Amino acid sequence: MIEFKNLVKRFGTRTVLNGLNLKIREGEILFILGTSGTGKSVLLKNIVGLLTPDEGEIWIEDQDVSKFTEEQYFSIRKTCGMVFQHPALFDSLTVFENIAFGLRRHYQLDEDVIRAKVQKALKLVHLSGVEDKKPAQISYGMQKRVSLARTIALEPRILLFDEPTTGLDPVTTTAINQLILDLSRELKTTSLVVSHDMNCALSIADRIVVLDKGSIAAIGTPEELKASSHPLVKDFLSEVLEA
Ligand SMILES: Nc1ncnc2c1ncn2[C@@H]1O[C@H](COP(=O)(O)OP(=O)(O)OP(=O)(O)O)[C@@H](O)[C@H]1O
Ligand SMILES: [Mg+2]
Repeated sequence: MIEFKNLVKRFGTRTVLNGLNLKIREGEILFILGTSGTGKSVLLKNIVGLLTPDEGEIWIEDQDVSKFTEEQYFSIRKTCGMVFQHPALFDSLTVFENIAFGLRRHYQLDEDVIRAKVQKALKLVHLSGVEDKKPAQISYGMQKRVSLARTIALEPRILLFDEPTTGLDPVTTTAINQLILDLSRELKTTSLVVSHDMNCALSIADRIVVLDKGSIAAIGTPEELKASSHPLVKDFLSEVLEA
């Protein structure tokens, strides 16, 4: 579904992704864990063309997108939706228009179809009745959910989440995690979730990758990771056990 082949990304003399190889299977939920600054967001941005790799290939379905033009990336964004670490909504647009924006941009749809899709997406993220508010009038957690709704409204087959629950309360965190699970199972999306939350990874991931200094330190099912002797994996796990 998605495959990274020997992916290298540098900023100046600093190598952030250091020859990364990874194959993500269709329909799986893959969690990417790693300490701050290890290249998790950079990895996701390379998939959607916000950054381009210095070396290596990125295969999405049957296309190597690493050398795509801006125009070719536009079409990939319908297949591959990204939910950013920070909401980045349009301040001057209402919640409704923020979610409708991508739908209007990518599809020719009647207004009532757009309305129905926006409503459905808001319902999925447990937000209703805020359609006419501007981002500044709702809380950060609500903005994050709007940003999630904006992405899922396009019904992408691949979903990339960059820390979808960081900064959210425990109730919303559980709801968002459940949503990731539901979307993956019901809509058969392939989900790549960058997270710091080992607890959540252990409960919903099919597989977990632990990144360290731009390479894969460990990869496996939750059960396999629990049995890992890798120091970084143990560090992540000890937080769960202490909590
Ligand atoms: N556009 C950029 N230009 C230069 N350096 C960058 C750029 N984007 C990221 N970096 C650097 O790449 C490294 C990895 O950044 P990245 O945002 O991927 O970290 P992360 O693993 O997502 O961390 P966090 O958990 O804090 O979000 C950092 O050292 C960062 O400073
Ligand atoms: Mg990040």
